[in-house]
Amino acid sequence: MSSLKFLGISGSLRKASCNSGLLRAAQAALPADATLEIADLSDIPFYNADLSEKPAGVVRVLAQMGAADALVLACPEYNYSLAPALKNIFDWASREPNNALLSDKPVAIMGAGGGMGTSRSQYHLRQVCVFLNLHPLNKPEVFANAFTGGFDTAGNLTDPKIAQLVADQMAALAAWTRRLKAD
Ligand SMILES: Cc1cc2nc3c(=O)[nH]c(=O)nc-3n(C[C@H](O)[C@H](O)[C@H](O)COP(=O)(O)O)c2cc1C
Repeated sequence: MSSLKFLGISGSLRKASCNSGLLRAAQAALPADATLEIADLSDIPFYNADLSEKPAGVVRVLAQMGAADALVLACPEYNYSLAPALKNIFDWASREPNNALLSDKPVAIMGAGGGMGTSRSQYHLRQVCVFLNLHPLNKPEVFANAFTGGFDTAGNLTDPKIAQLVADQMAALAAWTRRLKAD
């Protein structure tokens, strides 16, 4: 059985991001048959159809997306919806011929935010997944509160209940990915 390659993408660009912290927690809780690389969106410009060549950072992240068996999306909630950095990398990726980087790819979604745990933005992201023909895992859902002591000041996850949910989600994503690949 070959190892599964997951790519983590956080919609928050800040260094002490709790959403990026969730991805590090996922990295620490992977099943034995999976690896998780975390994409860097800090140099990705807004999608602009006038650019005749893709910027180097976009080329890099799109290559990571194409090489991944599954995506792990850490989805902040900005004004009740998903953060622009996360939507923007999907806008770039969606312009590839035949949506080849994304179509049929399994996805896990997690997020850290206010009292609703980013549920509103996660459900908007699920709507985006429909058009992109991504296949989000239904359960377990990971809704973390970033303001009640579950993260340290560097954005690392410290809440053992959320850490267990993240581990369970990674195990479920591995099974979901193998099921979709019929592997
Ligand atoms: C522009 C902006 C809008 C926000 N809107 C929401 C919101 O609608 N719901 C929510 O739960 N948190 C909201 N927040 C707070 C974020 O959840 C919080 O900043 C969170 O820590 C962001 O994730 P990060 O730690 O990964 O950067 C907002 C933050 C910003 C900067």
